[in-house]
Amino acid sequence: MAISNKTTGIRQQREQLPIAQGKDAIVREISTNDVTIVLGETGSGKTTQIPQYLIESNVINGRIAVTQPRRVAATSLAARVSQEQGKPLGSLVGYSVRFDEKSSHATRIKYLTDGMLLREMMSDPLLERYSAVIVDEAHERTLRTDLVLASLKTILKTRNGDIAKKAGKQVGENPLKVVVMSATLDAEKFSLFFDNAKTLYVKGRQHPVTIYYTTTGQTDYLDAALRTFFQIHLDQPPGDVLIFLPGQEDIENLNSSIRTHAARLPIGSPDIVVRTLYASLPNEYQSKVFTPAPQGVRKCILATNIAETSITIPGVKYVIDTGKHKEKRHISAAKGRGADALLTVDITKSSAVQRAGRAGREGRGFCYRLYTEESFNKMPLSSEPEILRTDLTTALLQLKCVGQDMEDIDFMDRPDDVAFHSSLQTLLFLGALDRHRGLTELGRQMAAFPLDSEYSAIMLASISFRCTSEILAILSLMSASSPLFPDSSTEREAASEVRAKFGHASGDHITWLNVMRAYDEYGTHSADRRAWCRANFVSERALRDASDIRRQLQDMCEKVGIDWQVSAGQDVAPILQSLAKGLLLRSALLRPDGTYKQSFGSLEIRIHPGSALADRRSPAIVYNELVTTTRTYARGVSAIPKAYIASLSIPIDAPQTT
Ligand code: CDP
Ligand code: MG
Repeated sequence: MAISNKTTGIRQQREQLPIAQGKDAIVREISTNDVTIVLGETGSGKTTQIPQYLIESNVINGRIAVTQPRRVAATSLAARVSQEQGKPLGSLVGYSVRFDEKSSHATRIKYLTDGMLLREMMSDPLLERYSAVIVDEAHERTLRTDLVLASLKTILKTRNGDIAKKAGKQVGENPLKVVVMSATLDAEKFSLFFDNAKTLYVKGRQHPVTIYYTTTGQTDYLDAALRTFFQIHLDQPPGDVLIFLPGQEDIENLNSSIRTHAARLPIGSPDIVVRTLYASLPNEYQSKVFTPAPQGVRKCILATNIAETSITIPGVKYVIDTGKHKEKRHISAAKGRGADALLTVDITKSSAVQRAGRAGREGRGFCYRLYTEESFNKMPLSSEPEILRTDLTTALLQLKCVGQDMEDIDFMDRPDDVAFHSSLQTLLFLGALDRHRGLTELGRQMAAFPLDSEYSAIMLASISFRCTSEILAILSLMSASSPLFPDSSTEREAASEVRAKFGHASGDHITWLNVMRAYDEYGTHSADRRAWCRANFVSERALRDASDIRRQLQDMCEKVGIDWQVSAGQDVAPILQSLAKGLLLRSALLRPDGTYKQSFGSLEIRIHPGSALADRRSPAIVYNELVTTTRTYARGVSAIPKAYIASLSIPIDAPQTT
């Protein structure tokens, strides 16, 4: 019978994973220790198996949270593990990521992003709904992973340690198990942080991988990747190819060039299937990367660094490593406030080693590094923890809401005072904190929405400016996972024609609103909508995504008694006023040479060529974000009356300490 065959197949697969041999030891150690560090090679089975072992052996009788830095990892791992358990997703095994959740009362293993776990702490500060928390991919040291680790240390003291005793509670009434899992070998730091916690090592299966370097540096990594792929495809024996790229845009571009070239191959060349994997990939496409290609067909997977350690794709024999990834970095300004920007930068040595390792999981492999050996040798060993190089505003506000002050928290790495101050200033400016650093009612309301503090501030401002309906549409599009208009320069022209139709002189935000309005009015027939989106060069996915997000934000508004139907009609002034409320620290003023200068900082900014305002000179602008290539560009830009900057700004000085 097909079904029982499938389950036996899965059982066999589970038993053959390298981790299966260590099952008893792992279960034993976790049952005897409060905190356990598990190190193991990627693909050995840590993430999928350890939660199941803990449930199956009854070491954990309650619920287990497994945190992931990326949403696509959380959703796809949950899908895999519920399949292994033979249960529908959302029953025994579920997931929770921002704007999407599949879990129920029956859920005992929940994969969730570290950000969602922090959010759950706002209503459950001691995470009492969980008996165990597994912090996965800890080596990535994302801001939120660090916040989770720090919070767990505090929670452990209360739930397992002396504080529980003092409060008259029996220790062990509802103790917490913590498991920290990491792919690289810097376990010592995690172990030290948790008072010399026990460290377990899981051996993986790793075959030798031959590494090739380029002899000269590559200026165009997409072109180099394309050429290398076809060399492998035409000259090398069967085996799938995994190409590491920085982001979705590169992935989509390379995807289309590979398809174009594949169509021109001589007759008789083997076929190619291309699969993509990146953070915002919709759930329905995720499982496709795991499906083996038919006999004689070569699968080519285009992935971001999500395939480095979070997700193991079987069948890979060749890895092409562009040596690049995207990283959020703080660009500091000579004076005043800097800004966060998403940059494409060189990877670290440990990433390069992980990427190469993906080729050797099932047999001898080959890794083509599109950079020189000298560049490899110069790479830093591992990247700096995100907490040391990113904006802390939203994190700070969340901690405030669970009654913790950043000053009092024991972090693995402490952010410096400058970063800390600038975030406090932002919160003060947004009205989330008062001058004594106390949380205001507004601050509490802001934190309740799953949005960055600035966006929450816009949302709350829309209540008094009476345009919540419009602001929800705009914020939803700003939070959607793909951009509304195509971002590649080739399609930009088509997009700019569309923008002319929907465009508004004030800039991108109202233009987006107009597109969303037109989409809303277009009816509910999905085929019609699809055709409409294609004809208008707008991303249907962005609009569908945004509609989902808007629905969730509307629900949240209803829960807290905000009337989301209030509309400003055709009047755009209130909308711009609301936007300015949240984005004013991201404002800039026009200079005579046509560039802009931050109003609260000294960075020189240009308007991104994809923006509706790209060819205009507006005296004052606000923007959603900065991207830096050789220059710094503002994306998501609206022109605002210059007077807003004067009228809305409050003197920004350091908040007083109490
Ligand atoms: O966490 P770790 O890197 O140690 O391994 P894992 O993620 O638990 O993966 C164990 C195995 O499950 C690998 O062979 C994966 O290819 C497989 N897997 C899968 O087939 N489908 C998924 N959606 C996730 C994992
Ligand atoms: Mg894993």
